[in-house]
Amino acid sequence: MDAIRPYAQRDRERVRQICLKNADCLYAPEDTKKYILLMYCDYYIEQEPENCFVAVDDNDNAVGYIICAQDYEKYEKTFREKYLPQADAISSKRFVEARLDLLSHAMFKSLYPAHFHIDIDEAYQRKGFGSLLISTLRMHLKARDLGGMMMVCGADNQQAINFYKKNGFKTLLTTKVGRAMALDFDAESA
Ligand SMILES: CC(C)(COP(=O)(O)OP(=O)(O)OC[C@H]1O[C@@H](n2cnc3c(N)ncnc32)[C@H](O)[C@@H]1OP(=O)(O)O)[C@@H](O)C(=O)NCCC(=O)NCCS
Repeated sequence: MDAIRPYAQRDRERVRQICLKNADCLYAPEDTKKYILLMYCDYYIEQEPENCFVAVDDNDNAVGYIICAQDYEKYEKTFREKYLPQADAISSKRFVEARLDLLSHAMFKSLYPAHFHIDIDEAYQRKGFGSLLISTLRMHLKARDLGGMMMVCGADNQQAINFYKKNGFKTLLTTKVGRAMALDFDAESA
């Protein structure tokens, strides 16, 4: 069985659970969970499932994902109309971080219209799934004539920073809370 395949509707709950688990929110209050899913998951799997891929175990169950918005302008319009108002209704200490992420994407949208989130279930980390998901999305976006992709990770998430560097990403911007990084598809290291 292939380790990576396109996202399918049946993956929805597993993907949402991995998102919550990696945000350390599996047992958080319902409002917090809803906020995390609105900010980091639901838009992508609901609005752009064709740009989402999962890593699966031997039983074809999702154990990791990469979820992508191909065009920041389209993402921002739909996100601001349908998702942000619901998130805004929930008070959260993560509010400022989430807004700074959006700002970083907006700053680099002309160079990197595509952005993504990636998460691997803890039991399956460091087995190469994350790198396979990156190369799968890279090929998918390249076939759609995009020249690169970006993401923002926590400024202190050394595990993720190591991972992105290893996969050829360069740093675009570092703030107190986040580091924006990008992969150029035609760069030699990519
Ligand atoms: C970051 C993440 C997506 C990487 O996926 P992965 O499948 O574990 O990574 P791969 O096996 O493809 O690549 C491994 C490389 O990533 C980095 N890495 C992964 N886990 C690491 C850890 N615990 N500590 C330090 N570096 C780590 C290293 O560079 C590692 O290479 P090495 O094993 O030669 O040192 C995954 O570990 C994850 O989901 N982490 C928790 C959530 C997260 O940080 N998501 C990204 C938010 S922006």
